[in-house]
Amino acid sequence: MPEKAHRILVVDDEESMREFLSILLRRDGYQVETAVDGAQAVACLRDGHFDLVISDVKMPRLDGFSLLEHVMARAPGTAVIMITAFSNTEQAVEAMKKGAYDYITKPFKNDEIRLIVQNALERMELRKENRQLKRELEQRFSFGSIIGKSRPMQAVYDLIEKVAGSRVNILVTGESGTGKELVAKAIHFNSERRDQPFVAINCGAIPENLLESELFGHEKGSFTGAVAQKAGLFEVADGGTLFLDEIAELPAMMQVKLLRVLQERELRRVGGTRTLPVDVRLVAATNKDLNRLVSCGQFREDLFYRLNVIQLALPALRERREDIPLLVEHFLGKYSPTVSLTLADGVLRRLLDYGWPGNIRELENTIERCVVLCGDGAITVDSLPGHIRTGADPVEAPMQDLPEEGLDLDNYLGNIEKSILLKALDRTGGIRKRAAELLGISFRSIRYRLAKYGLEVGEEE
Ligand SMILES: Nc1ncnc2c1ncn2[C@@H]1O[C@H](COP(=O)(O)OP(=O)(O)OP(=O)(O)O)[C@@H](O)[C@H]1O
Ligand SMILES: [Mg+2]
Repeated sequence: MPEKAHRILVVDDEESMREFLSILLRRDGYQVETAVDGAQAVACLRDGHFDLVISDVKMPRLDGFSLLEHVMARAPGTAVIMITAFSNTEQAVEAMKKGAYDYITKPFKNDEIRLIVQNALERMELRKENRQLKRELEQRFSFGSIIGKSRPMQAVYDLIEKVAGSRVNILVTGESGTGKELVAKAIHFNSERRDQPFVAINCGAIPENLLESELFGHEKGSFTGAVAQKAGLFEVADGGTLFLDEIAELPAMMQVKLLRVLQERELRRVGGTRTLPVDVRLVAATNKDLNRLVSCGQFREDLFYRLNVIQLALPALRERREDIPLLVEHFLGKYSPTVSLTLADGVLRRLLDYGWPGNIRELENTIERCVVLCGDGAITVDSLPGHIRTGADPVEAPMQDLPEEGLDLDNYLGNIEKSILLKALDRTGGIRKRAAELLGISFRSIRYRLAKYGLEVGEEE
């Protein structure tokens, strides 16, 4: 007997036939309904789903063939078996052509009809499974090393596929930690340039006076310290992709120079006279609102348009929470490759509820920390950083107004500093070096500040 009874509709104007089939099929565990002609059958089909229709051919009002056409058009998930009292090869062929599963002639043996029904239903199930599989294949769970099955991520995958083959410049935007660099690499490795270099440079991390030589190279002796000729990253990336990260940090002077290179597709090294051809695909990234920087004059509009031929906007993690379980599983596998860790009750709920201002990077760091703290058991709620456990905002909203009675500024700021230090330590699992990075201060500085508040809680690293 099938696990969930299949629903069968028996359509025949002859009452004895309806009764006979009903009894036979019910005995096999199917749910059977009957209709006296095609028109009544259409009404039944409108009211509910049937897995199979067994229909006579000759019937008043709507005949079997019209019913078959109706089912094929309106209920393609329903199989149809035609039965007739008059054996007729042409009709049989027509029935099969129109999509019937089988065509049988009366009289038939009990076992014969039972077997045909069983086969028809099995084939229907198989088709349903295939459709389901196809849907799952269409819905991708990852693209290269990018994980995510949510709609916004499907759109990102589609766009990467569409643009990767072309040479157009791409601007990847999104909050910090949303995967901009990952996407830049995916674009490169899905393009024809995949066998050529992928070169990344963080425009905000290089001192302004060195940036030009870093990008375009220099000739020997062109400035103090230029002891040898050096190729710039544009040359290193020749034929490949150059990823300009944090493009909003590009100083005004360099914006002009970059624009010229993009327009002329050639460059000159610092201190050089020769022009060199440029064959580089540019992908730029920013977590800033470049439109706003353009309108307040901090970023050149002409350069913006050159870089922003296609914009790939990455969603924040809180806008695609349905990807969190998938990402958690991915990072658990990454940080605990040999032991399969489980999540204790309540952990996933908290991970789903939290706002993730640091996006996937923050989720990744959190899972890494939990793996370290939990060893080889389950990830417990207690191993989560405090602010994720309690759902509190990691940084308190600053006070709006000075209280009437005034305040002790040093004490007030000290309390804020102390609480932020603790939160940073919490988030980095007590690793002071990483907490310092998180707060943009030096290791010396965090050590000093922790000592000042008597917070010697970090472990030595
Ligand atoms: N969809 C994703 N699937 C798997 N890992 C991801 C995904 N997005 C980001 N990551 C991981 O999160 C971390 C941060 O990603 P990435 O460096 O690409 O972010 P970003 O947008 O460039 O951040 P920032 O603006 O701070 O530079 C990396 O370790 C990356 O591998
Ligand atoms: Mg980045």
